[in-house]
Amino acid sequence: MKKIALFGTGYVGLTTAACLAEMGYSVVGYDVNEAKIDQLRQGQIPFSEPELAPLVERNISAGRLAFTADCGDALNDAEMVFICVGTPTSPSGAADLSQVEAAVRLIARSATRSLIVVLKSTIPPGGSAEHFAEILTGELLPPLVAHIVVNPEFLREGSAVHDFFFPDRVVVGAWDRPAGEQVAALYSPLHCPVLLTDPATAQLTKYASNAFLAAKISFINEVGRIAEKVGANVYAVAQGMGLDERIGGDFLEAGLGYGGSCFPKDVKALAAIAERHGSPSALLRAVMEVNAGQRRLAAEKLHDALGGLGGKNVCVLGLAFKPDTDDVREAPALDVISMLCDRGATVRTYDPVAASRAQEVLPPHSRLHYCEDAYEAAKGSDAVFIATDWKQFRDLDWNRMGSLMKGKTILDSRGLISPLQMQEMGFRCLALSS
Ligand code: UDX
Repeated sequence: MKKIALFGTGYVGLTTAACLAEMGYSVVGYDVNEAKIDQLRQGQIPFSEPELAPLVERNISAGRLAFTADCGDALNDAEMVFICVGTPTSPSGAADLSQVEAAVRLIARSATRSLIVVLKSTIPPGGSAEHFAEILTGELLPPLVAHIVVNPEFLREGSAVHDFFFPDRVVVGAWDRPAGEQVAALYSPLHCPVLLTDPATAQLTKYASNAFLAAKISFINEVGRIAEKVGANVYAVAQGMGLDERIGGDFLEAGLGYGGSCFPKDVKALAAIAERHGSPSALLRAVMEVNAGQRRLAAEKLHDALGGLGGKNVCVLGLAFKPDTDDVREAPALDVISMLCDRGATVRTYDPVAASRAQEVLPPHSRLHYCEDAYEAAKGSDAVFIATDWKQFRDLDWNRMGSLMKGKTILDSRGLISPLQMQEMGFRCLALSS
């Protein structure tokens, strides 16, 4: 059975470890965070991701998946080591590669056999993979050899397990073709297209894919602003656009815009790469500006609808950056809540799973209250603001919500509920764009 070590047990690393084990490989997950390793050994997943817990449980029981805080144990006779650590945004906007470099150095110092180092962390093209290859060459004990292979992930939070087993494509970038082919072969049971290329091309494919999806979102949000001025319905426009196979209907949902740990980081990083190489990208800058503007637009819409925000009560439904996850990184809801509080409103908020993570990120505020359910959050509110399209918000008892609210205004920033139905129930239902 092929032995694989995996460094970094976050959203991507843990999903990758569990899915590779499910495919029959023997996987040992390593993390510097010993407390997290102890949790994982007991089958406890430190974040919310559908389908992941049973997958981890099943593969630990089958003896195909283990966790350790000792990197020597993890690397022990592993043929491949996957690096899945974070590459957060640095103050300059460029990707911070310090965690990846630390993992590469640790592998170089600890390896006892030649192996393939698979870079799954999102790292920029134009020198980073080369730098890591130099470290390995310089620090590995001769005659050991390590080949770098870039293998970016395309997993969406909330559907990461599904996305792993049903990928649209696998991208592999290697200078050494046999090493690239060995990594590509891991995925052969998934029967999907495999792009075998060089590291820079593989890395840029990842950044360009995310930046394009983010651009689609900002594009439809820009069209939404025009639609409102000319009396058009942006949701119908998106439907009309999406029927063109060249455009496609996905990622054309106008609304509060994108958040999460990937789109914001990867668009900024790609813009920084362009800037660093002397060709700043006006398009990527615009994608970011439009996206940031949606959050301000939400606060403005509530201000206008309520005749000001001072002294008003706003119920904010949803904190996670998208449904089916507890991740609040770059979540639009958090920025809007800060704006509302700064402008004198009192905010009562609820999210099915993300409230505790939001409280770690959002500074406490005397006018910000976390509630146990949507009905508690709606009490006395002048308006309800739907910030995350959790399906359970569509299924709320809106008659009961209306009886608990003081006002009748709903700002649905995700196109979640039917404006006609809400108007029939006496609500004034607004959208970010018509
Ligand atoms: C994304 C990419 O989809 C995935 O391929 C990559 O590996 C990681 O980044 P993720 O960030 O988990 O995945 O979520 P995604 O479903 O792509 O949504 C990203 C953000 O865009 C969310 O905040 C979502 O609310 C928003 N979004 C998505 C829109 O505003 N409109 C849309 O039409 C689609």
